[in-house]
Amino acid sequence: MNLSGKHILLGVSGGIAAYKSCELLRLLQKRGAEVRVCMTEAATQFVAPLTFASLSKCPVYLKNGAAEARPFQHIDFPRWADIYLVVPATANVIGKFAFGIADDPVSLCFMSCNCERFIAPAMNVAMYNSPAVKRNLEMLRGFEKTHVMESPAGFLACGEVGQGRLLEPAQIVEYLEDTSYELRDTNDELRVTSGYQVGEIADDVIEKNGRKVLITAGRTEEAIDPVRYISNRSSGKTAVALSAVFLANGYDVEVVAGPMEAQFPGGVQVTKVRSACDMHDAVMERLADADVVIHCAAVADYRPANPANEKIKDSRSQLTIELVPNPNILRGCAAARREGRAKEGQTLIGFALETDHFEEHAREKFEKSGADALLLNAPVAADSGFGHDSVRFALVEHGKPIPPMEMGSKVSLAETILRFCSEKIDAQRESI
Ligand SMILES: Cc1cc2nc3c(=O)[nH]c(=O)nc-3n(C[C@H](O)[C@H](O)[C@H](O)COP(=O)(O)O)c2cc1C
Repeated sequence: MNLSGKHILLGVSGGIAAYKSCELLRLLQKRGAEVRVCMTEAATQFVAPLTFASLSKCPVYLKNGAAEARPFQHIDFPRWADIYLVVPATANVIGKFAFGIADDPVSLCFMSCNCERFIAPAMNVAMYNSPAVKRNLEMLRGFEKTHVMESPAGFLACGEVGQGRLLEPAQIVEYLEDTSYELRDTNDELRVTSGYQVGEIADDVIEKNGRKVLITAGRTEEAIDPVRYISNRSSGKTAVALSAVFLANGYDVEVVAGPMEAQFPGGVQVTKVRSACDMHDAVMERLADADVVIHCAAVADYRPANPANEKIKDSRSQLTIELVPNPNILRGCAAARREGRAKEGQTLIGFALETDHFEEHAREKFEKSGADALLLNAPVAADSGFGHDSVRFALVEHGKPIPPMEMGSKVSLAETILRFCSEKIDAQRESI
């Protein structure tokens, strides 16, 4: 089957292998398919919906009946689809498919779609071999237009060895491509045969461009005593969107992340830190091989001068905490670049979150920073900024007036930065 131009609905259920669906989505897009995603609630605990929304450039179909959901997504998505692909399929959704239960987006789409359906189970070997799962998979093999992929044996995420692994994303693509469709009659009814054999794990992942991006993410926590800290409300969603967009464009993505709620897509190398000083040190150690450095983290400007070793007792009297400035990581990187301690030709991007006098503050910060560009952003509206998927932003560049701030998704913000980096890299190449 040629996947080019196909509409593929990707159903993701709550197994540990859910992260592999991100890579699968990209591989399908590279074959020219258009992909949309629905997820069970359990799946959203393994991979953030924002990752799939970013990669598919389409809102994910989540919770049934949620106020923010479009009312007929459970009909619209399956009707739109040429292929419904459930990866990974948990024991739970397999049971629902077999017995006609439709109480979450993935099982509801299974019931309401009329296209070819492909199921890639993934679970622990004991679950895979349980009489219930065996029976349910056997039942599904007997359903019309339903294809159950065989799980290979191997090392499982739980540490055991046995059958129940998810097929590698490239193998799933091969399975679809090796499935031939023959028109049976003029009603467009299809007969499907699969000639696919589970074979070697293919190495066919996102085409790499040989470049590396280092991104700082999340917030920092500055200790007051062993149980209290100073921090801010950054959720880390912008860094997740940046990671997804750069990953999808062939970059190796490394992140130095402070505390945050949002989750990174599979394939991103994450180093966790807590304080601004730790983040500073971790970033400085990684400058030598980064082609692009993006300072997206909301780093605390100040930290308590003398954090207490014991919990500070409530004495009912006024308490003063002395604060000292944290190292400015962006300026530290600019200095390292000037002094030849960073990769040659490195692109440096800063972030400035402002709540007032946007242009004036951004221009001042940019000029002091030594960065190549500064992403000015403002959490002004109730539905934008911290914790939301959209934000008001403008890219500040040297020698150009600051454009008016536009309201857009965090993915479009990430794409603006990617475009700037690509143009700078192209200009450097031309000047050689
Ligand atoms: C860490 C963790 C990993 C899990 N991995 C799997 C898995 O690989 N396959 C599976 O069938 N269930 C797995 N489960 C159990 C499912 O998450 C659980 O059955 C859940 O209710 C499935 O919901 P869903 O099918 O609606 O996504 C896992 C649970 C946890 C906590």
